[in-house]
Amino acid sequence: MKFQHAIASAISLAVARAWAAPTDTLTIDTPSRLALFQCGLINITWHGGQGPYTLSVLLAGSASETPYDVYSNLRASPYTWNTNVQDGNNATLSVKDNTGALAYTSSIFVNGQDNMSCLKN
Ligand SMILES: *[C@@H]1O[C@H](CO)[C@@H](O)[C@H](O)[C@H]1NC(C)=O
Ligand SMILES: *[C@@H]1O[C@H](CO)[C@@H](O)[C@H](O)[C@H]1NC(C)=O
Ligand SMILES: *[C@@H]1O[C@H](CO)[C@@H](O)[C@H](O)[C@H]1NC(C)=O
Repeated sequence: MKFQHAIASAISLAVARAWAAPTDTLTIDTPSRLALFQCGLINITWHGGQGPYTLSVLLAGSASETPYDVYSNLRASPYTWNTNVQDGNNATLSVKDNTGALAYTSSIFVNGQDNMSCLKN
């Protein structure tokens, strides 16, 4: 009885380890050229990695810059982003997972729309 219990615990521990293990390599999808509008909502999607995740908006597209905006503690993809970047700008989004892995989109262009309500001053 005791022995069986030990086996059962060993199995559940192994299963728990398998579940906790990081899954695939972290990647993030680049939204299509016509999907992004100033103050428009868009689902940013990523895959793999291990949560929680942090999403950053980079305007110069450089890893060393101070992000324009940061959304942290995201449990899972997607994140519905209110595109608070002014039209005509190019941005890059990065996602970082709980292990520190990083993935970047290609440069994305923000299209015009007559709505400035979400822009930062
Ligand atoms: C402008 O964008 C905001 C979100 O950023 C939205 O709540 C609002 O409905 C939009 N206004 C118009 C007129 O589309
Ligand atoms: C984002 O995805 C959710 C489902 O995960 C959906 O309900 C929502 O309508 C989507 N929003 C946009 C802006 O596509
Ligand atoms: C954004 O990129 C486009 C080309 O893809 C370029 O024409 C435009 O000048 C860029 N905008 C800024 C603000 O750098």
